[in-house]
Amino acid sequence: MIKVLFVCLGNICRSPTAHGVFEQVAAEQIKNQLLVVDSCGTAAWHIDNPPDNRSTLAAKTRGFELSHLRARQLSDRDFYDFDYILAMDKANLKDIQAVAPNDTRAHISLFLDFSDIPRDEVPDPYYGGDQGFEQVLDLVESASHGLLAHMLTRNVLS
Ligand code: 4NP
Repeated sequence: MIKVLFVCLGNICRSPTAHGVFEQVAAEQIKNQLLVVDSCGTAAWHIDNPPDNRSTLAAKTRGFELSHLRARQLSDRDFYDFDYILAMDKANLKDIQAVAPNDTRAHISLFLDFSDIPRDEVPDPYYGGDQGFEQVLDLVESASHGLLAHMLTRNVLS
């Protein structure tokens, strides 16, 4: 069993997109029971809220369902519950590392470390236009395929 947690700032745009996309991409290729996927935010602003409508709509257009997801905040337990804690941008990564307990065994990195696209960060689309949400999906889809390939080649799912 492998557990993956995607983290952004608000948990209403980027990390729920990664949550829904990676879960579906992985389910198409592996048995679901081997994998648990979740997402959260470093901030508490949107706890219990569904994803931003713009994220939900953009994802739905590409065949990914996000509407059932609800926001929550990163907690201490996550560092012991999850194997991979993957940040959308460098500020998220810094915030995660700042509260990570010394004895966590989780792999903590940028999500785009698993993408072929030569970019480090999934830009925050919240204050921008629709194009930002399409870019989030492009980057998240690429990194989801890369993360799954990493897991399959490293045999972490068996
Ligand atoms: P996210 O985007 O971190 O991708 O969920 C944001 C959502 C909300 C806010 C900022 C970023 N906000 O300022 O409320």
